[in-house]
Amino acid sequence: MNRFLCLLAAVLYLSLQCQVNAESHLSRSTIERAVIEAKATVDSAYEYSRRVSVERVRRNAVSPSDILRLLKQPVGQTRNAVRAADYMHNAVNLIQTSLQRRQKRSINATDLISEEDLKLIADLTGCSPRHRPPTCTTIDNLDKFRTASSACNNKKNTRWGSSNTPFTRWLPAEYQDQISLPKGWDSAHNINGHLLPLVREVSNRILQTANSDVESDTIYTHLVTIFGQWTDHDLTFTPHSPVIRSYSNGIDCDKSCDNTEPCFPIEVPQDDPRFVNKTHKCMPFFRSAAACGSGNSGHIFGASTVRQQMNSLTAFLDVGQVYGAEDNKAGFLRDLTSDQGRMRVNKQYTDNSRELLPFSTMVTNMCATRARITDDPYAEEVPCFVAGDERSNEQIGLTALHTLFLREHNRLVYHLAHVNTHWDGERLYQEARKIMGGYSQVLTFRDYLGHIVGPDFIASHLSTYPGYDEDVDPSISNVFATAAYRFAHLMVQPKMFRLNETYEEHPVYPSPLLHKAFFTPWRIVFEGGLDPIIRGLVGHPAKLNTQDHMMSDELRDRLFKFTSELALDLAALNMQRGRDHGLPGYNKWRRLCGLTQPRNLEELAEVLNNTKMAEKLLDLYKTPDNIDVWLGGVAEPFVPGGRVGPLFACLIARQFQQIRQGDRLWWENNGVFTEAQKKSLRETSLARIICDNTGITEVPKNPFLYRPRGYGYTQCEKIPAFDLSPWKEHGPYGPPGPHFTFEQVAFSMRLGNDIPEAGMPLHFSEAIYNGQNSYNPKTGMFTCPHPGVYEFQFHCTIFQKDGSIDLMRNEHLLVHSFTTWQTGYLTASGNTYIKLNKGDYVYLVANHDGNGLNHDCYFSGHFLFSE
Ligand code: HEM
Ligand SMILES: *[C@@H]1O[C@H](CO)[C@@H](O)[C@H](O)[C@H]1NC(C)=O
Ligand SMILES: *[C@@H]1O[C@H](CO)[C@@H](O)[C@H](O)[C@H]1NC(C)=O
Ligand SMILES: *[C@@H]1O[C@H](CO)[C@@H](O)[C@H](O)[C@H]1NC(C)=O
Ligand SMILES: *[C@@H]1O[C@H](CO)[C@@H](O)[C@H](O)[C@H]1NC(C)=O
Repeated sequence: MNRFLCLLAAVLYLSLQCQVNAESHLSRSTIERAVIEAKATVDSAYEYSRRVSVERVRRNAVSPSDILRLLKQPVGQTRNAVRAADYMHNAVNLIQTSLQRRQKRSINATDLISEEDLKLIADLTGCSPRHRPPTCTTIDNLDKFRTASSACNNKKNTRWGSSNTPFTRWLPAEYQDQISLPKGWDSAHNINGHLLPLVREVSNRILQTANSDVESDTIYTHLVTIFGQWTDHDLTFTPHSPVIRSYSNGIDCDKSCDNTEPCFPIEVPQDDPRFVNKTHKCMPFFRSAAACGSGNSGHIFGASTVRQQMNSLTAFLDVGQVYGAEDNKAGFLRDLTSDQGRMRVNKQYTDNSRELLPFSTMVTNMCATRARITDDPYAEEVPCFVAGDERSNEQIGLTALHTLFLREHNRLVYHLAHVNTHWDGERLYQEARKIMGGYSQVLTFRDYLGHIVGPDFIASHLSTYPGYDEDVDPSISNVFATAAYRFAHLMVQPKMFRLNETYEEHPVYPSPLLHKAFFTPWRIVFEGGLDPIIRGLVGHPAKLNTQDHMMSDELRDRLFKFTSELALDLAALNMQRGRDHGLPGYNKWRRLCGLTQPRNLEELAEVLNNTKMAEKLLDLYKTPDNIDVWLGGVAEPFVPGGRVGPLFACLIARQFQQIRQGDRLWWENNGVFTEAQKKSLRETSLARIICDNTGITEVPKNPFLYRPRGYGYTQCEKIPAFDLSPWKEHGPYGPPGPHFTFEQVAFSMRLGNDIPEAGMPLHFSEAIYNGQNSYNPKTGMFTCPHPGVYEFQFHCTIFQKDGSIDLMRNEHLLVHSFTTWQTGYLTASGNTYIKLNKGDYVYLVANHDGNGLNHDCYFSGHFLFSE
């Protein structure tokens, strides 16, 4: 491989020598050749990586770092985007290397390759289409339903917030070379006058927490923690490139401790307690994929010239983790065998006849963990589950939430189909998906975020909905995904609790340690299903992040460990990821948020309210400026009523503010839902969703607030059900539009024993029918409850020589009766169609003295249609 590349470079170099002089352009054929070679290199590296991965999984030899890599593997459109970026990067590099050799000095690509040439390379590699805005005119129902990718949510900037676009940056990136290399790439490189400490060293000294030392929250349940992860998996997913070895020298990232793209291994410090015998010098780490055209060629797209990372998911709270964030995936997850709008479910297994997620059909099964964990070589394995997000198997609490919301979708379509028998599968699917989006926005904003950022940040950023603003870019910021929203890694308990019907430790299926609950769908299939896990989430408190006990060693020392192989450290990963993404240090973010920037021990001690912690941090970092932002953020004391410090409260509140304000289809935005539908959504509860989709019969009414067993759990029957009646619509043959309650606006009254007074409203006292009580017998008035067109009729017998009756609206004559003389009496009748406004009143008046009106006098009216 190595030799091949050298050869290729030499050939290119020679051909370039002939075809290029300093000023002129590269010839088209030269560029085409470079692109072809780059594609071959990338394709063969992808192929190699795939083969090795499949082999390892087959041999049951996946290491924790393989798991992480497979977890962050790009699929579908994301994979195409990452591949295009890899083609482009390699093509530019090939040309640049040969040109540089000729120039004998180091300059960047854009100095050597003209803008037109770069455009051509971008076209040939498939990078350009990623920068062209999609057209929105061909998409149906753009104002009603979301697209899978959320393209065209914003009609001006059609890619804003859509999947497979780069994370936005709230502060400029800081790379060691200003373009793409992480800080710390060259370990001798000073930053603000100091070397960065090893992330694993920081993890060992600051975050270490034995399972037995974990403190529990007194207020919030473990569901708060896992719900956080659930929402994160709707919002952010940063893919790796699928390659596992360096392009430049063919080194496998997990066999070497060299920094060579895409390998950026985490070095293990000398005295690491986990590696006393120095068995390992580093933990493998793969850099996040670069977005197409970012880095040294980004400016041709009008994009940033520095390396950017990509978000595979949409920025909106649209339950993408259930439905998928791109069309193909979304289609794959639907049950298209019948026209019922359902999501696909597992065909092999159920959970006490309730649905489970479908199985993956991938040949590689990284969820075949049962034999290893149970130490039973004959244990039956199952494949991983598939869901809208790729990480649904990551641990069983998360898998349980995926299953719960899948069931809720199918429950909704079932009921919607009964309410609207004329809806087809597509309509049912879209309407249920839209309701689910509403749920998620309500639950996140009304119930969840306040517990995290506290009441002050809710008041300043997230209280009353300000309306849609098409100038707000909802895109997720790099610092949110890479640092701030990872705060809850410090709220994860070392166990996944499982409880029985009485919310006590499950006697048959006890609570596994977290590292025995990663990628274990079999625990859901064979070990009692969802109910024990959901009870465990609502019946146990979250871990409390304290400055002495930060991250459970299940995540810090045993991440993705199933056997004795080298496990990962999530704290180290978070910090290394921040450096990989070029995030500025702690103080720059404090400044962005309008907070003080501690310059020395004393000031840092004050910010952290902890001198010992400040000393430990400065011992490692020397200056507060260099503290990795994730670490600085989670080390801060909580804001009042919240579970993060002021820096993360600011960053999280700001992100959710933009997600809401920049979402054209936000549930509260005008025209998205009707008022009645909004009222239903406002009354949504997670408790009821749990009740409706599990065998659980009793839950805390607010499942985020911890209550010890026996205190204030509520019977499911007492929790209001979600009211779907506002979704009822007329069939295709009925009057268009109106809501079903207005259909029933109809009355038919008989006069009865009223003694009429000339010029006054008649009081019809006997109801033959008075739906909705829109006719009031006491006042004699029909009051219009809903604007639209109505029909009225009356027919009366008058024992008089003359007389007549008037139909009145709001004191004005509408119809004067048609009167005919029979033998000995008169009949007076009339009818009309009339458009009414809400609150208009309609009544009859007799125009003669005396009481010749017979009790057989009838007055009726009804709603026809709204306009
Ligand atoms: C049981 C628990 C959890 C496990 C095992 C876990 C594991 C991981 C891993 C391995 C990564 C990728 C690290 C990297 O290489 O950069 C990650 C990323 C992340 N985690 Fe967690 N996590 C857990 C819980 C949570 C919770 C409770 C939250 C939040 C509220 C959360 C938020 C995030 C976010 C925002 C990312 C970045 C995602 C991306 O953009 O790719 N995680 N987590
Ligand atoms: C690379 O080239 C661009 C365009 O000429 C220039 O703006 C930029 O400063 C250069 N970067 C470096 C590191 O020389
Ligand atoms: C380290 O090496 C010693 C002696 O070879 C051995 O007894 C011990 O178990 C090893 N420790 C680990 C963690 O591998
Ligand atoms: C739940 O488990 C506990 C033991 O942890 C047991 O005492 C109790 O009877 C069980 N409850 C039910 C309903 O099975
Ligand atoms: C600061 O720390 C002290 C002692 O550890 C504690 O009593 C106090 O509540 C803390 N203040 C804040 C704002 O966290």
